[in-house]
Amino acid sequence: MSEADRLDALLQETRSFPPPAYVRTGAIASDPGIYRRADLDPEGFWSEMGTALHWMRPWDRVLQWDPPHAQWFVGGELNVAENCVDRHCVGPRRNKAAIIWEGEPGDQRVITYGQLQRDVARAANALRRLGITKGDRVAIYMGMVPELAVAMLACTRIGAVHTVIFGGFSAEALRERINDARCRLVITQDGAWRRGRVVPLKQNVEEALLGAPSVEHTLVYRRVGAAAPQVALRGEVDWDEALAHESAVCPPEPMQAEDMLYILYTSGTTGKPKGIVHTTGGYLVGVATTHRLVFDLHDSDVYWCAADIGWVTGHSYIVYGPLANGATTVIYEGTPDFPERDRHWRIIERYGVNIYYTAPTTIRTFMRWGPQEPAKADLSSLRILGSVGEPINPEAWIWYHENIGKGRCAVVDTWWQTETGMIMITPLPGLTTTKPGSATHPFPGVAAAVLDEAGNLVGPGAGGNLVLTRPWPAMMRTIFNDDERFVRQYWSRYPGKYLTGDGARVDADGYFWLLGRVDDVMNVAGHRLSTYEIESALVDHPAVAEAAVIGRHDDLKGQAVAAFVTLKESASGDMGAELKAHVAVKIGPIARPDDIFFTAELPKTRSGKIMRRLLRDIAERRVLGDTTTLADPNVVAMLKQQYDGVEE
Ligand code: WTA
Repeated sequence: MSEADRLDALLQETRSFPPPAYVRTGAIASDPGIYRRADLDPEGFWSEMGTALHWMRPWDRVLQWDPPHAQWFVGGELNVAENCVDRHCVGPRRNKAAIIWEGEPGDQRVITYGQLQRDVARAANALRRLGITKGDRVAIYMGMVPELAVAMLACTRIGAVHTVIFGGFSAEALRERINDARCRLVITQDGAWRRGRVVPLKQNVEEALLGAPSVEHTLVYRRVGAAAPQVALRGEVDWDEALAHESAVCPPEPMQAEDMLYILYTSGTTGKPKGIVHTTGGYLVGVATTHRLVFDLHDSDVYWCAADIGWVTGHSYIVYGPLANGATTVIYEGTPDFPERDRHWRIIERYGVNIYYTAPTTIRTFMRWGPQEPAKADLSSLRILGSVGEPINPEAWIWYHENIGKGRCAVVDTWWQTETGMIMITPLPGLTTTKPGSATHPFPGVAAAVLDEAGNLVGPGAGGNLVLTRPWPAMMRTIFNDDERFVRQYWSRYPGKYLTGDGARVDADGYFWLLGRVDDVMNVAGHRLSTYEIESALVDHPAVAEAAVIGRHDDLKGQAVAAFVTLKESASGDMGAELKAHVAVKIGPIARPDDIFFTAELPKTRSGKIMRRLLRDIAERRVLGDTTTLADPNVVAMLKQQYDGVEE
């Protein structure tokens, strides 16, 4: 099906699902007036939401808005670790499970709020002993172990800024991020389990440190022991030994609401990843509020977000949102097919998970594995099912609703970004009638619109650029060390409005339908990648003269990476395999191209601009669009012939 056909099919989607009775009764957000109230007085709304946190000093002003720079809860002081851990230890949640963890090999740990408090305090003292103070940057390169959450919270306790780097990134990608943030410390682990194999995290750090002079120490958690390559790192300290020597008392550092909380690198439309900066007060208010209302979090719920903490979803909805709300958050170390394809359903059954949050690509994988897998387990504890990361196709939505939710659960399709920090467009499960494939409406207090190229609102059903028209508390504040790029990239297309980079339509009932990226950002199996980053990795190879990368449609992964490469004349051998491996080394296995096509020339306009639109037509086996502006139309005709000749 072509892109246009898919979009038309989406707009013909007429099924709708009112909030299930099972969810509506007792839902936390149960008054539809919340939308109007928040819309009339957004600052009043967020101020009210802010009171759910513990502040060391109250704020003087909810919002200081000097477009495009916002400050929220100005003058307020708080500490994130204190809010996420300590304050739950003084009441009935003291012995509540904060983290339920399951390792891939099957080991299990339950960490209460009381235990988490002691671990975080010890880790924070260990960081201090290594000379880390307020404002210092700490890189965290770990797998999905509880110590990753402890490390993040320990940073926030002393006011250090963490930058978590997804464990699927390569040594080079890690080094680039460490250097950009000038990290003084790297927290890592010997290795991580993934599908029964060890990901050699520590060895990658060793390689990354060869060109990372800012790093003075490394703090290493032992997870896999002898199974990992044995290497020694610069200024290495053992996590367990370090914590064993520290006191469990560590007063939380009072932080200004606008102090930096973390940097998270994400792919943009250039070869260089952007360090998205989030700050303390507004971020925590935003993620705690959305986590409570979107997932209808009750105190007895067991909540599981199956994302990776290395991405923003894990930051906001495995660690900070759930813990700020005193929830029980499940963390699973491995892949859904280890040892069997029913692993997620077994986890839900084992811990009585009530709320489950995953990505459409994972749901489509489950569809392919078949309904007999979830049918093996008792999923009756489930109440809310969430989706995030890419548009969910109605077929996957319905499958999720029927086979996982058994028709009883509310499905919340949540649209947001690393930059927005918190969920922005989403149903509220006790209030919203959902339509499969639509993220429905902006969250209370959030304002979104779809604009045409001239900046006019488009009418019902017409496509355009999705913008956010009002500041929100968890919004990114800047790009680390590059405020100019922040202003240019997000705020100059439509002055005063935040450009999301996504296309969208609003239907006649006011429902938002997300249509994917309209820029050069790809979304491959829920991983955000930049076409330029992969192109840079390709041209970095000595045999490559030129490369163009596009995201083509893929039924399972949403998008797949297709690369068109022109080789230098001297090149020989199996360059396809070699170039794929080269990209994996430069960025990580997640960026490895699915297809590489070699061509003597890339299709360009007379002014030399590569026409990616035509490459997309070729990769998706469509009739070619307008080729009249091409310098040499033969180039694409030949490419198309070559591509169409390949079996799908
Ligand atoms: C896409 C992930 C449609 C979108 C939280 C966005 C979605 C990008 C949805 C951000 C959704 C995320 N429906 N598209 N529910 N959720 N996206 O920064 O293109 O990794 O711009 O943040 O994912 O990806 P990021």
